[in-house]
Amino acid sequence: MKESSVDLYYFTGTGNTLLAAREVAETLRKGGKTVRLLRIEKGLRPLEEDCALGIASTIAVFSTYPFVWKVLQDLPEGRGRSAFLISTMAGASVGGFRAPLKRLLEKKGYVPLGTGEFLMPSNYARTGSDDGKDRETIEAMKPAAAAFGRELLEGRAKWKGGTPLSSFAYWLAGKKFPWRFMARRLPLAVDREKCIQCGKCARLCPVKNIRMETWPVFLDHCVACQRCMGFCPPGAISVEGKNYRQYRTVEYGDLVGEDHRK
Ligand SMILES: Cc1cc2nc3c(=O)[nH]c(=O)nc-3n(C[C@H](O)[C@H](O)[C@H](O)COP(=O)(O)O)c2cc1C
Repeated sequence: MKESSVDLYYFTGTGNTLLAAREVAETLRKGGKTVRLLRIEKGLRPLEEDCALGIASTIAVFSTYPFVWKVLQDLPEGRGRSAFLISTMAGASVGGFRAPLKRLLEKKGYVPLGTGEFLMPSNYARTGSDDGKDRETIEAMKPAAAAFGRELLEGRAKWKGGTPLSSFAYWLAGKKFPWRFMARRLPLAVDREKCIQCGKCARLCPVKNIRMETWPVFLDHCVACQRCMGFCPPGAISVEGKNYRQYRTVEYGDLVGEDHRK
């Protein structure tokens, strides 16, 4: 990577992708780069000269969330800047994030350096306790993410190619129905006995799908990212009729990270 600094934009539903992004950022810093971790849902700031672009987001519906794509589609011209992608997933990616992102970056004049896709625990429909296995999966991500960071530093990183399903997954992610389907599979409900009316769920929702009245009210454009459920302090948000447990791998304050933009 030729640039001396990196703006690394991340979206994380429940913390998994932030953990991977932090690991890569730490390695880049050890290699002498200045790295800023910035929340993608706050939009992009102007890219400085001598600054590479990093993108990190969740694999969702084999691609990533539509509001993340919206920000990426509005990226400024790259003018030869390096770019890389970090993503986390629970099982499989068919390339529905990395392949269309590569095309988009090239069209905008970025130089795509490489992709780091990491397996992490699933962050939805969690029943029972898999804490031991989760920890193992998270610990296994760390050396892999650090290795990806070194590959970026040393110019050895690779942008993994697409699969025959990449374009279909990208097309699907741009439609409303897969997200409606996910949100319908995971319909959220608030337990009024537990809710402390703190409004964190509404503040954290990346698509402003929660309106805080006396109690949180869910609107109709949830993308099922699991943030509200994961970070509700008393665990008052649950999936209707299911015994799914709360899942998060970082704490509320960590979500903001180093990015204090309003
Ligand atoms: C709505 C939704 C869709 C998902 N779709 C996929 C998928 O297509 N493939 C996969 O391997 N994991 C999928 N997952 C699991 C997440 O990618 C995985 O747990 C990820 O590490 C969560 O990262 P985050 O906490 O940073 O959001 C999905 C999770 C959610 C909530």
